[in-house]
Amino acid sequence: MSLVNTIDLLRHAEEHSYAIGAFNVVSLEFLNGILEAAEEMRSPVILNIAEVHFDYVEIEEIYPAIKYMADKACVPVVLNLDHGMSIETVVRALRCGFSAVMYDASKKPLDQNIEETRLVVKMAHSVGVSVEAELGRVGGAEGGERAAKARREFFTNPDEAERFVRETGIDALAVSVGNVHGFYAGEPELDFGLIAELKKRTNIPLVLHGGSGISDNDFRKAISLGMRKVNFFTEMSKIATDRVREMLASSDHCFIQDLLKEAQATIKEVVMDRMKVFGSAQACALPGNICPTGGTCSSCTICNTNTTQKKPVLQPQPVKEQQISQTELSDIVSRVVSDILKRNG
Ligand code: 13P
Repeated sequence: MSLVNTIDLLRHAEEHSYAIGAFNVVSLEFLNGILEAAEEMRSPVILNIAEVHFDYVEIEEIYPAIKYMADKACVPVVLNLDHGMSIETVVRALRCGFSAVMYDASKKPLDQNIEETRLVVKMAHSVGVSVEAELGRVGGAEGGERAAKARREFFTNPDEAERFVRETGIDALAVSVGNVHGFYAGEPELDFGLIAELKKRTNIPLVLHGGSGISDNDFRKAISLGMRKVNFFTEMSKIATDRVREMLASSDHCFIQDLLKEAQATIKEVVMDRMKVFGSAQACALPGNICPTGGTCSSCTICNTNTTQKKPVLQPQPVKEQQISQTELSDIVSRVVSDILKRNG
């Protein structure tokens, strides 16, 4: 089926208390490894493409491959812009065909973050695309070499979170609760009390960025308290790199295609393992199931072997399209123009 947005998937995750993994794609090996894992695990999956990775992957170039693979997949697939840093980038992702976007204005003052995020929501919802945004600041850098430590002054404030969600209309909230991107300096210390409070005050799906380095037990606890999407990259990349390094060390007859194949297989293993921990493995078979094919595909176990027990399935629906006013539209256009001018100096 075609790419879906996150709304019905996160609702299903909420109903069944699991989280959906969002894994960053920087090459076809990542794309294929992640999708193979999702199909084998019967798990919905979110493919993240982060703006900080645009040096590795051109979105217009990889989009046709992602669309082709998602159309063939027997599980729901979301293509999400991860940490879009400007409204111009969001427009580019929407034009390209992304089904979800994350807009990250978390480094800007609260009022500006609200104002810009609200515009992104208006724009994305008008074309059926869901929106995640960040409040508080998640430090570090995904795939970065240097380890980082979470700073309490950047943790998400519950009063601000309540206002942010109410005034922007976002579909999911990325929070800072002791998590950082990339490697952790020391042991990660998630503030579970804060997670519970944020969930109570906002009542929307919470997103945990910086999944690499968090223990399985901490994941389970955070998910039990309302985390519904987990972003994960650095560890997957590191484990695949280590495997390739071992292969190179153990043989003089290694070709690049063998290394890439091994990297893909390793990514698949890592993702399958995370899906088990996040509780999304077999989620497509849970009640109110989200099998995207409506029970008609020939390759998945549910459709193929359970023909007598086929239930009506929940088809992930696009966000209800909302009207966008002339003023909002011209505001968006002027911001995109100013982003372009800033970029070009
Ligand atoms: P890690 O690279 O730390 O797993 O974080 C990924 C992430 O949060 C992407 O937004």
